[in-house]
Amino acid sequence: MKADLIIKNIGNLVTMRGDNKPRTKEKMRDIQILKNAYVAIKDGKFVDLGEGFNDKLVDSNTQIHDAKGLTVTPGLIDAHTHLVHGGSRENEFALKLSGVSYLDILKSGGGILSTVKATKNASFDELYEKAKKSLDIMLSYGTTTVEAKSGYGLELDTEIKQLKVAQKLNQDHPVDIVSTFLGAHAIPLEYKDNPDEYVDEVINMLPKIKELKLAEFCDVFCEDNVFSVEQTRRILNEAKKLGFKIKIHADEIVSLGGAELSAQLGAISADHLMAASEKGMEDMAKNNVIANILPGTSFNLMKNYANARKMIDLGVAVSLSTDYNPGSCPTENIQLIMQLGSLGLKMTPSEVLTAVTINAAFAIDKADEVGSIEVGKKADLVIFDAPNIDYIMYHFGINHVYRVYKEGKLVV
Ligand code: NIG
Ligand code: FE
Repeated sequence: MKADLIIKNIGNLVTMRGDNKPRTKEKMRDIQILKNAYVAIKDGKFVDLGEGFNDKLVDSNTQIHDAKGLTVTPGLIDAHTHLVHGGSRENEFALKLSGVSYLDILKSGGGILSTVKATKNASFDELYEKAKKSLDIMLSYGTTTVEAKSGYGLELDTEIKQLKVAQKLNQDHPVDIVSTFLGAHAIPLEYKDNPDEYVDEVINMLPKIKELKLAEFCDVFCEDNVFSVEQTRRILNEAKKLGFKIKIHADEIVSLGGAELSAQLGAISADHLMAASEKGMEDMAKNNVIANILPGTSFNLMKNYANARKMIDLGVAVSLSTDYNPGSCPTENIQLIMQLGSLGLKMTPSEVLTAVTINAAFAIDKADEVGSIEVGKKADLVIFDAPNIDYIMYHFGINHVYRVYKEGKLVV
């Protein structure tokens, strides 16, 4: 067998190879870094890797690229985004700075509800072009796989429009997209006085989304004055019956018990968790729920950071994602999130890299395909213009990407 491409002269090769399960505790820290290494790629997959070089894989058709002694990691995975939406919300920026809270802006009909209007009014092509621009930015920072949620329609047609945009981008764009149905993202104003009716509506949308194969996951924004724990449980139990995998926006602002619920329901991940209780974290550890922490949201809402250190101590597998959305976290930049992972959450650079590669792959149930550099997986990788991994977190606020490869193709 000969390789299509060999990337040689990799100063530090962060493989993330290891057990085929989410990494916890010291497994998040003890990561394998090969020195002066190479990777070999054929048909878009890794076929070999190691220290030094492997002549046996080379023939006249093999391309050889030089990584110049730099640092290589698996393609980064952003396991929580609200990629497809209309408009932007800089009109709320001054309000936020003057101290009006995120939930108060939502209560008065702004926030998510204002993006719902903009998304309803946008055409398919407008949503596609805007989301494509964001995907290009994500890729330029090293993100090669993205989870994308609906949730700015709050009625079937617009939810479907959003999910179809994500589906088409998944076909057209190098970045892979995994879709999540988030019909339960806010209570529409017309249901303000009888939110349970909207819960019924969401439950009614589920079979159609399933039939059209538009989402693998179902998610709910479980929050004070949004969806209660009981409403979340109802929706997600129905989703499970139809074969959706489960995620929860849990304990973001108020400690409602979303973390506990994620453990009871067997969610793949609970996300946010800034207000999660210790009991909730323990339950998550026992039931193997991944904590997908979104420190960009803490930063941008000017609120506290989730207690990642405690979660790691308790044995919870932690992943990190952007939460890219027009309200609580308008950034596509996963490297900023990694830097906040260290500077805000106090995670070490090895923990951070684990969190945006293999653990993020588990958070979207794609760890059999992506998340590590190992034989048989998609050849997604990033060459960072950095002498070691600490440097990526230390020198913050800039883009360290030198090259990005997606399924063996140079894309940045
Ligand atoms: O994850 N918290 C709920 N949903 C998003 C924000 C969406 C928005 O504000 O438009 C989040 O923070
Ligand atoms: Fe979110």
